[in-house]
Amino acid sequence: MTWDELEVAVRGCVKCPLHLTRTNVVFGEGPRESSVLFVGEGPGAEEDVSGRPFVGRSGRLLSQLMEEASVPRESVFISNVVRCRPPENRAPKPGEVSACLGWLQELVWLLRPEIVVTVGNVPSRLFLDTKEGITSLRGRFHRAVFAGVEVLVRPIFHPSYLLRNRSREAGKPLDLTLEDLRSLSSRTFRDIP
Ligand code: URA
Repeated sequence: MTWDELEVAVRGCVKCPLHLTRTNVVFGEGPRESSVLFVGEGPGAEEDVSGRPFVGRSGRLLSQLMEEASVPRESVFISNVVRCRPPENRAPKPGEVSACLGWLQELVWLLRPEIVVTVGNVPSRLFLDTKEGITSLRGRFHRAVFAGVEVLVRPIFHPSYLLRNRSREAGKPLDLTLEDLRSLSSRTFRDIP
């Protein structure tokens, strides 16, 4: 499958009931040659309306932290575990995740990222095939194979959690997240516009 074929297929997807309530499919965005992929949980209200990932309150905080950590948002590819908004901002159901999994696998296969930053519990557990929580998973790189591609997974707290924990003190979630983001080596971004 090519990138364009993938995008057309995803935009027309009716594999799970979330297609009935979506305004837009959120395919994801970023350079197709990026070596870093950010994967969130799923679109919220603002993402559903705009068709773009991480543009709501959480997304604005994530973008701000990325900038502070010198990780240019334009240099990374950003997508989600599910591509249509779960109603009432609930977490995606297992059936919705499995219906959407093939699209994420195709994306990883085409992009072949070196690093996958998993944002929050849902993508972290999916990529690392674990029930462990983000607090114990974050803070280091994990080797994983996803869709046949060897990647380094770097789990980070979800920005919606950081919106509720805004202290900038050393060792608090926000500071730890900056540390995680800074760990994405500058080498990774060297050749990317
Ligand atoms: N916006 C997204 O695109 N994904 C999330 O997980 C949260 C907000």
